[in-house]
Amino acid sequence: MQAPVSESLLAAPAKINLHLAILGRREDGYHELSTLFYPVRDLADTLRIEPGHDEHMYMRCPENPDLESTSNLIYKAWKAFGAATGFQPGLFVTLNKRIPMGGGLGGGSSDGAAMLRWLNDNAGERALPLQALMDLAAGLGADMPFFLLDGPALATGIGERLTPTAVDLAGLFLLLACPPVHVDTPWAFKAWDAANDRPQASQSLTSRYMESKNPSSISPLVVSNDFEPVVFAEHPILRKIKEKLIRSGAVCAAMSGSGASLFGLFRNRGSAMSTARALQNDGIDTVVMDCR
Ligand code: C5P
Repeated sequence: MQAPVSESLLAAPAKINLHLAILGRREDGYHELSTLFYPVRDLADTLRIEPGHDEHMYMRCPENPDLESTSNLIYKAWKAFGAATGFQPGLFVTLNKRIPMGGGLGGGSSDGAAMLRWLNDNAGERALPLQALMDLAAGLGADMPFFLLDGPALATGIGERLTPTAVDLAGLFLLLACPPVHVDTPWAFKAWDAANDRPQASQSLTSRYMESKNPSSISPLVVSNDFEPVVFAEHPILRKIKEKLIRSGAVCAAMSGSGASLFGLFRNRGSAMSTARALQNDGIDTVVMDCR
């Protein structure tokens, strides 16, 4: 018999990768990374959790019914948590999708992490210590453990070894551009493998952000993404967006994750807003956030 659960509304924020270096391919096909995750709280999916009638989980996603499947990380998180702890309450979960999919913004992983966090908060004596919860999350998706933390973090390994890291972007404005392009992450890693087998692999467009105050434990913070050469070659519009961000006054800009979203950091809110409007006129969704 499970204890009754109460209704909750959860926010599952997006992330960007301020820096993403691919260090090499492992025997098991996964890739060693060094990446700096930064949460984007102003862009979030929401999960409405309501008590169900039995020990099943029913999921609705009004904007995208394709996501109502057992391959969704929300369902996988519920199933894995039940198997690990015996706490598997019956639930109705309504997912409102705001984070673009295939955007390199971690939406699916964040949704799954929000489910895990809620289950753990409601599991009473069966709750797991944070490290055990992070290990469970890592088994479901490489980006997922980050979303169990509450701030920026440096990730190594395949993305699961996390060190919370102070990143001071105070005074800057983040412009996130989400073009209607979907990049498949396994494809992007394979394309990187193919490009880096060649003796003359192309270089990523590096955008250095050197503030006099040290913005993170990475000094200076190098805003770059090793996926850019292969993803830009396949989707030239993304390179154009990056160039537009830089030309419009961004102090640095890069793609997030395996794309297709890009971000720029601006010193001036007006420049960020006018660039966002120009991108919207080209059919590109944008979010402007005060980094505080
Ligand atoms: O772990 P996740 O399901 O998010 O990863 C999706 C795919 O991306 C993996 O199946 C793998 O092909 C690739 N990947 C990788 N190296 C990583 C993370 C993901 O090759 N560090």
